[in-house]
Amino acid sequence: MLQQFWFLLLLALSILVCLVLMPPSTDQSSGYQYKPFIMWTPGDHVNDSTQNEVTYGYHPDQPLPFSHKLHAGDRDIPCQFCHSSASKSTVAGIPTVETCMGCHNYVNTDAEPIKQLKESFDKKKPIEWTRVHNLPHYVRFSHQVHLRARDSKGELLLGKTADEVCMACHGPVKEMTTASQYAPLQMGWCVDCHNRIREPATESKAAVPFAPVNCNVCHY
Ligand code: HEC
Ligand code: HEC
Ligand code: HEC
Ligand code: HEC
Ligand code: HEC
Repeated sequence: MLQQFWFLLLLALSILVCLVLMPPSTDQSSGYQYKPFIMWTPGDHVNDSTQNEVTYGYHPDQPLPFSHKLHAGDRDIPCQFCHSSASKSTVAGIPTVETCMGCHNYVNTDAEPIKQLKESFDKKKPIEWTRVHNLPHYVRFSHQVHLRARDSKGELLLGKTADEVCMACHGPVKEMTTASQYAPLQMGWCVDCHNRIREPATESKAAVPFAPVNCNVCHY
């Protein structure tokens, strides 16, 4: 009886040791580290969006195998060629079938997904892409203000080029197939950047933040 008890205790202990030593796995597309549950500490989830049913690296199935890598990466098509509302409005927008057909009337017309694209075009039926990013309704966000943000010398604040500005928030989209969510989209993520990006201090003036952190800037 006593011997059995020690055996079970030893077994339980060795399982525990294995769990602790298990290396954390990293999600390739988002860089988010999934720890084995035994290494979880309460602070881990403070900047995690699971409570809002949004997850890092969220990557839903899409109706067509569209690849950002092929278009924005290999072919270097500018982000705003397709997401053309970004500089004019709050939303970036998803390209219409017409935008795709501007090229695919001529490019790879024999490929199966392009035939599908052509069929949507002929039937005037939009492609129903599944939305990846979704802020809660009580948050105000505008693409336009972020794309325009410049320092006092007139340089873009969030990246050297327009495409880099997009990727400051959306991550390495040029290496993704269909888009996946890279940023946590949490309040901490927004506020952290708003606090960090400052007009550098001079001898006469302290560093000034460009972006406000008052509650009513982001909340209705
Ligand atoms: C500016 C031109 C351009 C636009 C706009 C464009 N594409 Fe493409 N697309 C290309 C080129 C070029 C290729 C071929 C790349 C290759 O084969 O190396 C391609 C390839 C593809 C492929 C792969 C086809 C295969 O051979 O399997 C798919 C799918 C595709 N595009 C979907 C789309 C969709 C959906 C849109 C609209 C959201 C779109 N493309 C908009 C230029 C474009
Ligand atoms: C990578 C840095 C960065 C991130 C991340 C970021 N912002 Fe900003 N935001 C800025 C900068 C810089 C400005 C200042 C733009 C200007 O006024 O030129 C700004 C301005 C704003 C403004 C406009 C303020 C005004 O003056 O009207 C709002 C609203 C805003 N951000 C909301 C958000 C929200 C909501 C998020 C998160 C979902 C977010 N931002 C994430 C950098 C960032
Ligand atoms: C400051 C961070 C930031 C920058 C810079 C940024 N985005 Fe976004 N993007 C977001 C956030 C946050 C959302 C979610 C917005 C929502 O749910 O209302 C989003 C949503 C989107 C969406 C889907 C919804 C929509 O607005 O149509 C697309 C597409 C998109 N971004 C593309 C881009 C492109 C292209 C660029 C560069 C031209 C860019 N983004 C620059 C933070 C950013
Ligand atoms: C040839 C057209 C094209 C180009 C160029 C392009 N995109 Fe997209 N983008 C799409 C399409 C189509 C979708 C919808 C399918 C998907 O989610 O992948 C999309 C989706 C997205 C989304 C997710 C939107 C959502 O649902 O929340 C983001 C973010 C995004 N693109 C960013 C970028 C960035 C950043 C670049 C430049 C590096 C870029 N895109 C270049 C066509 C394009
Ligand atoms: C730069 C933008 C920004 C500013 C400034 C900001 N918030 Fe938020 N806030 C967000 C975003 C984005 C979310 C949604 C994501 C989340 O739940 O973290 C949010 C969520 C919240 C929530 C809901 C949290 C939850 O888990 O449901 C509360 C409450 C809140 N904010 C209060 C405040 C207060 C109070 C201030 C001022 C001290 C403030 N916010 C300033 C962007 C901002």
